[in-house]
Amino acid sequence: MSNNHVTIFDTTLRDGEQSPGASMTADDKVRIAKILEEMRVDVIEAGFPAASPGDFAAVEAVAGEVKSSIICGLARAIRADIDQAGAALKHAVRGRIHTFIATSPLHMRYKLQMEPYKVYEIAIESVKRARNLIDDVEWSAEDATRSDPDFLCQCVEGAIAAGARTINIPDTVGYTIPEEHNALIKMLFNRVPNIDKAVISVHCHNDLGLAVANSLSAVQAGARQVECTINGLGERAGNAALEEIVMALATRRDRMPFTTGVNSEMIARASQTVSAITGFAVQPNKAIVGANAFAHESGIHQDGMLKHRGTYEIMSPASVGVKTSNLVLGKHSGRAAFKSKLAEMGYALGENAVEDAFTRFKALADRKREIHDGDIASLIDDSAGEGRIKLSALEITCGTRITQPVAEVELEIEGVKRTARAIGDGPVDAAFNAIKDLTTRTQHLRSYQVQAVTGGTDAQARAAVRLEENGRSVTGHGTDVDTLVASAKAYVDALNRLTLRRRAARAAAAE
Ligand code: KIV
Ligand code: ZN
Repeated sequence: MSNNHVTIFDTTLRDGEQSPGASMTADDKVRIAKILEEMRVDVIEAGFPAASPGDFAAVEAVAGEVKSSIICGLARAIRADIDQAGAALKHAVRGRIHTFIATSPLHMRYKLQMEPYKVYEIAIESVKRARNLIDDVEWSAEDATRSDPDFLCQCVEGAIAAGARTINIPDTVGYTIPEEHNALIKMLFNRVPNIDKAVISVHCHNDLGLAVANSLSAVQAGARQVECTINGLGERAGNAALEEIVMALATRRDRMPFTTGVNSEMIARASQTVSAITGFAVQPNKAIVGANAFAHESGIHQDGMLKHRGTYEIMSPASVGVKTSNLVLGKHSGRAAFKSKLAEMGYALGENAVEDAFTRFKALADRKREIHDGDIASLIDDSAGEGRIKLSALEITCGTRITQPVAEVELEIEGVKRTARAIGDGPVDAAFNAIKDLTTRTQHLRSYQVQAVTGGTDAQARAAVRLEENGRSVTGHGTDVDTLVASAKAYVDALNRLTLRRRAARAAAAE
């Protein structure tokens, strides 16, 4: 590999999943991981196997399905964590254990309550234990950017000597600034004697909106792995966005002569799938993947674009997989046109999945005249409708002449149809209240969002509902031409996901 190659380490399935409400099932993770693999992401951090049996199963499932990317499992510097990570990666073609411990005075003193010498000892021991299980070990100095430089150098040197092939320098709290981060990486190259035996990685959080800038400045100082997430998902304000790192390196090769192996044309699809699965909408003006990223509104800009696209576009929409010619399907489109659309959008589905999607497409085409790419993506990505509870009917009375909206909901619960009527502060509230009357009331609504899948007043609505129960949080999704139906479907989907989580927790407790 050339010395200018930057390894792209995607942590959407681990740090991204740590965004409140972004929890994913093993199936969700496998779907995203397959896209990342096809996109040629070098390393996929699939989860934290010791965190829960569900996370263990998800890492194991991803490791079993993905063949070309390295699959990584996170582990604290604790024996049981490292062993669990090793076990979850047993069937990986190429597996990596990523173990970490905090090295900053604040974390060592208050969180770990350990003296630095002890932290050093544990760090070395954890790397050695991981190396006994697998060849590819990454070690992270959590809160590295607020660590004492001498202690950080000592730990990095020790971790490399103990067998770590990758050393990650996280800006855990998104505190650093580009110039400082560049100097920190250079300092490590100047002072750690065995630094050439490892790849230096960075993992920047976005608390000050500097995650991408900090990552790129570290690359300029010699880092050759960047940890990032699709859509910038991640703990608190998120991580550096993969799409921004990849496209900044591709677009400004004149100033940053580095390459990645990522097929950037799959970025839009990865972004849409992650957004659909997590229920985290992408802000319209988000760099690279926002709906407006390639929209030119003002007359002056449009005039410039017609004369030469380079006037206002520094990269082409096609280079990130955004189609400008959005071939529209409709009620008369047949199976062949539908299949060719799926292929054009990059979906490789089996025959049964195509048939299911085609049936849903026909049902949608009966209700919506033009079916756009976004509608097709939601047909494929929306898993709502599966599970023990199904929404079979919804009727809502609301409007300016009605004092309080009333919703009548019919649910099919394990094959039995039941109906309830409820009032609410608004039509969505009334529908949710009726669903609650038919199910349990132990869950709490933590967030509710709706977005239009495409433009126009006939656009489908995609709703996301986050529910929490006993500290477990799930996000359900629903899509429909009717916003209220989409919302009710999302609530039901969240209930189904809670049931799965409850069952998984019970099964784990019984083991
Ligand atoms: O932000 C962080 O420090 C992390 C580590 C576990 C790498 O996510
Ligand atoms: Zn992190």
